[in-house]
Amino acid sequence: MSQNATSRIPASTTNLGPGFDVLGLALQLYSTVSLEITDNDTEVIVSGVDVEKIPSTPDHIAFQAVKSIFDRSGKQLPNGLKLTIANGIPAIRGLGGSGTAILGGLLTANVLCGNPFSRPELLNFASALEGHPDNVAASMHGGLVISVKENDDIHTIQIPCDPALHVVLAIPEFTLSTKKARDILPKTVDFSDAIYNISRSSLLVASIATGKLDMLSIAMNDSLHQPYRSTLIPGFADVVAAATSAGALSIALSGAGPTIAAYCLDNMQEVGTQMQEAFKHNEIPCEIQILGIDREGAQVWSDGDS
Ligand code: HSE
Repeated sequence: MSQNATSRIPASTTNLGPGFDVLGLALQLYSTVSLEITDNDTEVIVSGVDVEKIPSTPDHIAFQAVKSIFDRSGKQLPNGLKLTIANGIPAIRGLGGSGTAILGGLLTANVLCGNPFSRPELLNFASALEGHPDNVAASMHGGLVISVKENDDIHTIQIPCDPALHVVLAIPEFTLSTKKARDILPKTVDFSDAIYNISRSSLLVASIATGKLDMLSIAMNDSLHQPYRSTLIPGFADVVAAATSAGALSIALSGAGPTIAAYCLDNMQEVGTQMQEAFKHNEIPCEIQILGIDREGAQVWSDGDS
């Protein structure tokens, strides 16, 4: 049985406007999670982006994911486990960082346990730990992923995207927890708002699938969550307006925010500069990242693999 495993998991941006808890897109930005059986005490080591925001203890969600695989497979958790996370994803900013940690823990522990679980089973476990399937489904499969929960199972379809499509992320310095961004949402929605989102979410998937990306400007609008969440993000309307005038195809909140994602075929640098300026006018420092779409999804390997 393998004594070590390493995984590389892409970040994700989800919802894409109307596809709340359903649509996710994997991004070319990665965290690496390694798990090793050692003769020492258990340790959790975190390095990279935002280490001060992430616990370096067995409370880390990746370690909880590791434990869940040993539990489910009926194997005893080894005394000496070394979990190493090289984090490349800004934390608590709407880029699926917790989902990458969960998948990293599940995939590496699965290898150490002798691969008892299939990828669809691991995705079900990941969604249960995360509370919604969209981030983990995109990070697992890569590309644009539609995920639907039926009973306890997550059903997914991956849609190929135009390789020229890029995402310009304006990542504010402040964090916004998913819990806070979900608590602000109403408990019920108007029928007209539901239709607004169903129509746009369907159009969005069809636009990407057929390459009719000019439709995205209409397809990425949302009535279910952004109107509420934008109140938590100073400058949201200004950043959206700035990205639109700089030539973005469409703009949406990334996941629960506060990151704002602009979708572009060109003018990426200018879109980023204008989004950053708009946040700055609202006294919000932000980092810009221009990313392509990851197509490979989560990878896992062991030292013994050729
Ligand atoms: N679909 C989730 C939400 C993503 O919008 O709350 C959170 O990362």
